Amino acid sequence: KLKHLNLALNHFSGPIPEDIGLISGLQRIDLLTNSLEGPIPSSIGQLRELKHLDLRENSLNSSIPSELGLCTNLTYLALASNFLSGELPLSFSKLTKIGELGLSGNSFTGPLLPSLVSNWTEMVSLQLQNNSFSGNIPAEIGLLTKLNVLFLFQNKFTASIPSEIGNLKDLTDLDLSGNQLSGPIPITLWSLTNLHSLQLFNNNLTGTIPPEIGNMMSLATFDVNTNQLHGELPKNISLLSSLESFSVFTNELSGDVPSDFGKHSPNLVYVSFSNNSFSGELPQELCSGFALQNLTVNGNNFIGSLPACLRNCSGLSRVRFDGNQFTGNITNAFGVHPSLEFIALSDNQFVGTLSPQWAECKNISSMSMARNRISGQIPPELGQMTQLQSLSLEANDFIGQIPDELGNLSMLFSLKLSGNHLAGSIPKSVGKLTKLELLDLSDNNFTGAIPIDSGTFDSLTSLNLSHNKLSGNIPAEIGNLELRYLLDLSSNFLTGEIPSNLAKLTQLEVLNVSNNHLSGSIPSAFATMRSLNSFDFSYNNLTGPVPTGGIFQKAPANAFVGNSGLCGASEGLSACSSSGKKSNKNNNKILIGVFVPVCGLLVIATVIALILIFRKKPKLLDDETKSSKSESFDSSIWEREVKFTFGEIVKATEDFDEKYCIGKGGFGRVYKAELISGQIVAVKRLNVSNSSDIPAINRQSFENEIKTLTHVRHRNIIRLFGFCSRRGSMFLVYEYLERGSLGKALYGVEGDDELGWGTRVKIVQGLAHALSYLHNDCSPPVVHRDVSVNNVLLECDFEPRLADFGTAKLLSSDSTSWTNVAGSYGYMAPELAFTMRVTDKSDVYSFGVVALEIMMGRHPREMLESLLESSKPLKDNTELLLKDVLDQRLEPPTGELAEAVVFVVTIALACTRAQPESRPTMRYVAQELSARTQPYLSEPFGALTINKLTGHQK
Ligand SMILES: *[C@@H]1O[C@H](CO)[C@@H](O)[C@H](O)[C@H]1NC(C)=O
Ligand SMILES: *[C@@H]1O[C@H](CO)[C@@H](O)[C@H](O)[C@H]1NC(C)=O
Ligand SMILES: *[C@@H]1O[C@H](CO)[C@@H](O)[C@H](O)[C@H]1NC(C)=O
Repeated sequence: KLKHLNLALNHFSGPIPEDIGLISGLQRIDLLTNSLEGPIPSSIGQLRELKHLDLRENSLNSSIPSELGLCTNLTYLALASNFLSGELPLSFSKLTKIGELGLSGNSFTGPLLPSLVSNWTEMVSLQLQNNSFSGNIPAEIGLLTKLNVLFLFQNKFTASIPSEIGNLKDLTDLDLSGNQLSGPIPITLWSLTNLHSLQLFNNNLTGTIPPEIGNMMSLATFDVNTNQLHGELPKNISLLSSLESFSVFTNELSGDVPSDFGKHSPNLVYVSFSNNSFSGELPQELCSGFALQNLTVNGNNFIGSLPACLRNCSGLSRVRFDGNQFTGNITNAFGVHPSLEFIALSDNQFVGTLSPQWAECKNISSMSMARNRISGQIPPELGQMTQLQSLSLEANDFIGQIPDELGNLSMLFSLKLSGNHLAGSIPKSVGKLTKLELLDLSDNNFTGAIPIDSGTFDSLTSLNLSHNKLSGNIPAEIGNLELRYLLDLSSNFLTGEIPSNLAKLTQLEVLNVSNNHLSGSIPSAFATMRSLNSFDFSYNNLTGPVPTGGIFQKAPANAFVGNSGLCGASEGLSACSSSGKKSNKNNNKILIGVFVPVCGLLVIATVIALILIFRKKPKLLDDETKSSKSESFDSSIWEREVKFTFGEIVKATEDFDEKYCIGKGGFGRVYKAELISGQIVAVKRLNVSNSSDIPAINRQSFENEIKTLTHVRHRNIIRLFGFCSRRGSMFLVYEYLERGSLGKALYGVEGDDELGWGTRVKIVQGLAHALSYLHNDCSPPVVHRDVSVNNVLLECDFEPRLADFGTAKLLSSDSTSWTNVAGSYGYMAPELAFTMRVTDKSDVYSFGVVALEIMMGRHPREMLESLLESSKPLKDNTELLLKDVLDQRLEPPTGELAEAVVFVVTIALACTRAQPESRPTMRYVAQELSARTQPYLSEPFGALTINKLTGHQK
């Protein structure tokens, strides 16, 4: 006799029992948000009285049983967010009473058949988004005259939008974005005067935006970004008084924006004209309501100065004017904008100075003003912009010194000041920026020594100091940094020898020390720097033989010219003879001269260190063990099966002594600790000098996430035993894996032959499963935010284990989804540079980069950059062959392995698409990689091009 079965929001698992069909009086079933698996039982078709069926957010799979169409009384059917697939059953034509149909977030395929649609005349809300429906949108959609909501976004619908859509007079929300719709927007659509939200972005729509848009007086959201619309914006677009959000970026629109745009739209919050060919001045009344939060007009031909009303938009959060021909003085163009997070003024002709008032925009995380004619000094007040992560002021006319205060920008990740007239020495405080990954001070007048010693520039991955007047030696400590991309010290006055310690930079790609006064020989250890694809030692005073083997086998032309004392087989050098020996003798003398004093120092240092250890340490340890008892609250979430205290970890690492350090990165150092039980764990200590640096709410959500993660048991996710905070630092305790990181395996000295193609494919698969699990099976879902080769660890059998989740979240400045740059340079999705909206799709991008890096044996930066330039085919690269892109250290794969490799690269390229919406989900990727349902090689392996794999075949 049961009429209503409601078990929603529980943790029920397993299949829905077939017996459910026996409860024949059921009118309503609510099983949403459980973990139910398997197919929808066909016996549901026996429930002839059923009106309401809600199975959302489970793990149901297979296709919809056609028997469901027998429930002809259904008015509400919600199957969203499952793993359902297949086509809609033809029996759905019998659901003539259906008012709401929600199938979003599944893998449905096939067309939306007219024979179904034409019977759904009671439909109020039709939501089919995020599936793989294809074919055209049937004209019969025009029969659903009661529709309020029509969501077909993120599918594969093609052809043009049927003009019958104009019959849906009650429509308030229409979203067809993310399909392959083409042709013009039907003129009838503009008569839907009740529309509140119209979203057609990411299609191939052509034609213009007609003056009829002026009739849509209820329109609040208008988004047609990323289509091929052309022509001018109609004048009466300014009449849309309800408008809140107006987005036309990435089209082919031109002409002036109507000069009264914004005048009658006081609620305008979001405006984007970016990436079109607009010209003329920006409307001066654009922000007449002062509500504007997001204004992006980058990539047009706008001229003139900035609208004066901007100064008073105190709610501004994102502003982009970059890449236009704006002029005018920017000194006072902005006011105090406490919510401003992102501002880009680069590539214009602005003049004026950098106002100290920027210090009051406390939330700016990215500020770029490169390539203008801004002058004056860099105000020391910028040091108060504590959220700043990226500062780009290159190619302007700045003078004076770098203010010491910039050393207070503890979140700073990228600092570019090249191409100015800055002078003086580089302040030591810059070296204390523990998150700084990219530093470019090239092309200035800096003098003095390179300020690098131990404990500075902990996270630096790219360093450019070229074209300055720096003197002194190259500090050997540079070899201890984490440099991966660039080390350019060229065109300075550096002297002394090149330290052989630099050979430790095994992930470095470009090394340039040319045009200095360096002497001595080129250290032979450099032969093992196998990531180097460009190096330049030219125009120095180097002597002796050029080392042979390794990277020196394919030395770039002219890498050694201008060193009269160098000899060897390379181009432009004389063959080595007796002169080589002479310089060896000199070296011996130098060696003795250096060795004796260094040994003396070493003895003294050891004695001091021993005294310190024996005097201080035991006491410290005791204190720590004691205090760890009193602070037991913090350690309360240590995993039950692994018992240990913080004191024990302090003891095991001798109070976090460097010798137990097994890795370091932007967020802190990792130590290896052997517990009394014999168990070995990895302890990550996070660089948060003061826990008040972390907003309380971040900390709370971090702790919640960590609690979730301590319960995660997944083969490809590292076990997290627990965490605690002490002495203002946070400590995370993980399972320890002997083999270390994927980065080490890819770039380390050993392990070459072991990382064969089969192993690499396995690693990619495991990583995909780990991310799919975090995104889809954790509740709440976890976005990793920092997927890189260094955050994937390997077990003895090379099974990958994802590590370091949660950390990035803690350190982002904001707990909402609008977050700041967190993640590793080179792995971050391009949209994070301008939207900062971290979603699971940013993880998908990073995954794609890592997958390509695994297959290529080097970072895919260049290839991705050229693919991103335009999402169009690689012009100069039509010939780029897959076989040339793959890791050349291995024999090309053959047979099934070749197919697997092609498949991985294809999926990885899809994951790195510029538009987040067009990247697949991790769930899809993981399933595809395991099932490999895609067609096999259609042409010989050796002939496959990258364009073919990106689907941009000519
Ligand atoms: C559907 O789910 C069940 C239970 O999780 C599983 O055993 C089965 O293999 C899945 N079927 C398909 C086609 O994925
Ligand atoms: C190294 O730097 C010099 C001067 O800065 C430059 O001319 C040269 O092209 C650079 N070498 C390489 C290989 O990029
Ligand atoms: C180059 O080295 C020689 C000795 O090795 C020295 O005499 C000479 O002054 C050096 N030249 C420069 C420009 O440093």
